[in-house]
Amino acid sequence: MIQEIVKRLDPLPPKSKFIIFGGGFSGQRIASLGRHLGTKVLCSRRKENSKGADFIFNTDKEVPNEIFDGATHVLSCIPPLLSGEDPVLHKLKTQLLNSKNIKWVGYLSTTGVYGDTNGEWVNENTFPNPQQERSIRRFSCEKQWLDTKLPVQILRLPGIYGPGRSVFESLLAGTTKMIDKPGQVFSRVHVDDIAGAILFLINLYSQGKNPSVVNIADNLPTNNLEVIAFAAKIAKKSLPSNVPFEIAKETMSPMALSFWQENRKVDNKLLCKTLGYSLIYPNFKSGLKNCFSKLKMK
Ligand SMILES: NC(=O)c1ccc[n+]([C@@H]2O[C@H](COP(=O)([O-])OP(=O)(O)OC[C@H]3O[C@@H](n4cnc5c(N)ncnc54)[C@H](OP(=O)(O)O)[C@@H]3O)[C@@H](O)[C@H]2O)c1
Repeated sequence: MIQEIVKRLDPLPPKSKFIIFGGGFSGQRIASLGRHLGTKVLCSRRKENSKGADFIFNTDKEVPNEIFDGATHVLSCIPPLLSGEDPVLHKLKTQLLNSKNIKWVGYLSTTGVYGDTNGEWVNENTFPNPQQERSIRRFSCEKQWLDTKLPVQILRLPGIYGPGRSVFESLLAGTTKMIDKPGQVFSRVHVDDIAGAILFLINLYSQGKNPSVVNIADNLPTNNLEVIAFAAKIAKKSLPSNVPFEIAKETMSPMALSFWQENRKVDNKLLCKTLGYSLIYPNFKSGLKNCFSKLKMK
């Protein structure tokens, strides 16, 4: 329940105006939490009439200048363009730099910028070593944001899941694949913790606790088989047989393959110990129980 998250957080200062570019899965949840905390939030999508579109932003359309009137907080949830440019900076850098009330700018990045570490932990002091093209573009966008000299905070995310986007969707559709790659782990984060951590970080930022990069991840990087088996048990579904990675990779999309080629554990001590954020879903078990409860409500 969003009210449970609201109780854990302080509201943003009165008269805050929060602009979110990219009201997709995470953007909408962050917007909803911001509104429940009493903040005015405007969220972009690319097409007119899309659900949750307060304004339209895409790279071939002008955004009304008034969007930034009084804006105090700005977040981009939009991935890089294929050119490596950041879509928001590409179109709106001048307007952003001219917006005098901005107190905080967030950029949702990925932990893919750390590259492959053979299963070792990465934290914010680990020097990024992006190996995939998309992670190279992402690291370039991080730099573009930091170079603006706005009060930017880069938020690095591992695999995002939550109600409507979790292993249950493929389990119920009968399309789950039990890919077996010994030693492989994935880090993940529940979308409510992205929203909760961001609103928490915004308030800390104004108190001078403002690291320029923060990982938002749960406590328990885990092998995918364990995650699927747990979900199957809750949903009372049987599982297909395991498929060795070496066989599964023959029919994988290049995108899926690129995820399986990297192995790392994402450390969240900066967020959860140093800064003091308390995770709502500390691991996949509590997070999946939440996703399943929402499925049952449908
Ligand atoms: N999914 C993951 O597991 C994961 C992991 C780590 C990091 N990330 C990154 O974290 C961010 C949020 O992830 P998410 O899964 O919540 O994203 P999402 O649901 O895919 O939403 C992305 C949003 O960006 C908008 N968008 C995409 N390309 C755009 C462009 N060229 N111009 C304008 N708007 C554009 C989309 O517009 P529409 O609403 O019109 O479609 C959508 O609102 C993304 O940058 C994503 O790449 C994702």
